[in-house]
Amino acid sequence: MSVHIVSKHDNRQHAALKVPAAAQSELSESSVRVRTLLISLTSNNLTYARMGQFLHWWDAYPVSKDYPAPYNDSSSWGIVPSWGYATIEETTIPELAKGTVLWGFWPTSSALTDLKLKSGAPSGHWIETSDHRQQLMPLYNRYTVAPTTNSITDLTTEANPLSEPAREERDRMAWTALFIGGKAGFILSEYVFSSDPESRPPIHPLGNQPGLHWTLSDGDLSSAVVINLAASTKTARVFSYHVSRKPDSSAPLGLLQVTSSVSRIAEASQNVGTSVPSKAVGYENVGSDETGKWLASRKASKIVIVDFGSRASVLQELLSLIKSRPDLQSCKVVIVQVGNEQKVYSGEEILAGRAKIAELGKVQYNTSGVQDTALELMDQEAYFTTQKKFWEQWLDRRQLNAPGMEIVMGSGVSGTDGVEGGWERLCHGEVRPEEGLVYKMQ
Ligand SMILES: NC(=O)c1ccc[n+]([C@@H]2O[C@H](COP(=O)([O-])OP(=O)(O)OC[C@H]3O[C@@H](n4cnc5c(N)ncnc54)[C@H](OP(=O)(O)O)[C@@H]3O)[C@@H](O)[C@H]2O)c1
Repeated sequence: MSVHIVSKHDNRQHAALKVPAAAQSELSESSVRVRTLLISLTSNNLTYARMGQFLHWWDAYPVSKDYPAPYNDSSSWGIVPSWGYATIEETTIPELAKGTVLWGFWPTSSALTDLKLKSGAPSGHWIETSDHRQQLMPLYNRYTVAPTTNSITDLTTEANPLSEPAREERDRMAWTALFIGGKAGFILSEYVFSSDPESRPPIHPLGNQPGLHWTLSDGDLSSAVVINLAASTKTARVFSYHVSRKPDSSAPLGLLQVTSSVSRIAEASQNVGTSVPSKAVGYENVGSDETGKWLASRKASKIVIVDFGSRASVLQELLSLIKSRPDLQSCKVVIVQVGNEQKVYSGEEILAGRAKIAELGKVQYNTSGVQDTALELMDQEAYFTTQKKFWEQWLDRRQLNAPGMEIVMGSGVSGTDGVEGGWERLCHGEVRPEEGLVYKMQ
């Protein structure tokens, strides 16, 4: 059995550590002992490492004191969690039988892990309650029971050809792990920029908190043009899809998508069959006259830039373009910061990024914060049912919504084919836009 360990001080340093099957202690009450089954690796995982201290992602699965030195030192080494599925191998919770598959936030490890769970709402949701995870944001402590069929266990038995329904189910699981259930893009489109502001007032991108203001006008895109930077990130793809399908009354006047994957993103927009005019441009054309003219042609009073993790100077080029054109100068500009470029940032770069947030008045987005507010305001069952419905619909058309996207199925922790190899490539920005890294861990 192996576990992937990452240096907290320099995320480029990492190791696949072989761990002996430890003699298992007796499982505590209200607990399950699980093994990670299927997980993804995306730029998101780099964020979990980069901000792991500040936002407590390192707390989820601390390194064991039994690991060999230096990896047993939790002040220097940690396990970057990942989204996907795990199987229950032992349980003291009668409602969660052995063999049940859970969806949630897992260690990049093939070893057994214990979770302490209490029943949550709605039914089928479970909340992690371990002391060491109390500062983790609620989104990351929520686990749900995944529908279990035989095909899920077939994940481990490649030798036996899968039936068509089993293959389809396995593929949907892989895409769900890769896109993290489409959650972040959906919540941003539907709750921060509400499609139904009368009954669902928009929620601040960090979640409603004292001192934060997000008015009906802030959440209204109907007089805005939206610009997605790093439009081929998985998160942006789902956001673009939902924004493009908003009812006319809340849809934006246009959607500009800035990406290195221009033809695929343009194809995806066409496939949505939207009435929202959209354009995909490469990074080299962001500041061009053509881009400026297209933006101006939308006759918007507001430009909402959503940055999903664009490369170095792109945002600045875009802002210069807007400033330089008389036909755009009167537009109100709002910048929503979702993510960061696919690379490992130095300490100075992290500080510079924070300074830019303040300087440009960017509004940070936090999926967990918005979900927390939504759960306070809405019927919880309806909230999750709606999300599930929209995600299943997105999955039904996944090849059209993300044309060319390929699941690259790796295996286990060690080697180029395992999490270790994927992490190395992520750290160097080598994962291509249409390459979806997913790992079978059992
Ligand atoms: N705030 C929140 O609540 C929240 C929620 C979800 C995700 N996020 C963040 O959003 C970001 C995107 O996450 P994701 O998992 O959706 O990303 P992803 O799919 O793994 O991102 C891949 C994309 O990154 C872009 N990219 C930018 N710089 C790159 C480089 N140097 N090398 C290769 N690709 C590069 C490329 O898109 P283009 O060619 O189109 O630029 C590429 O297609 C992450 O920073 C993540 O943490 C934040």
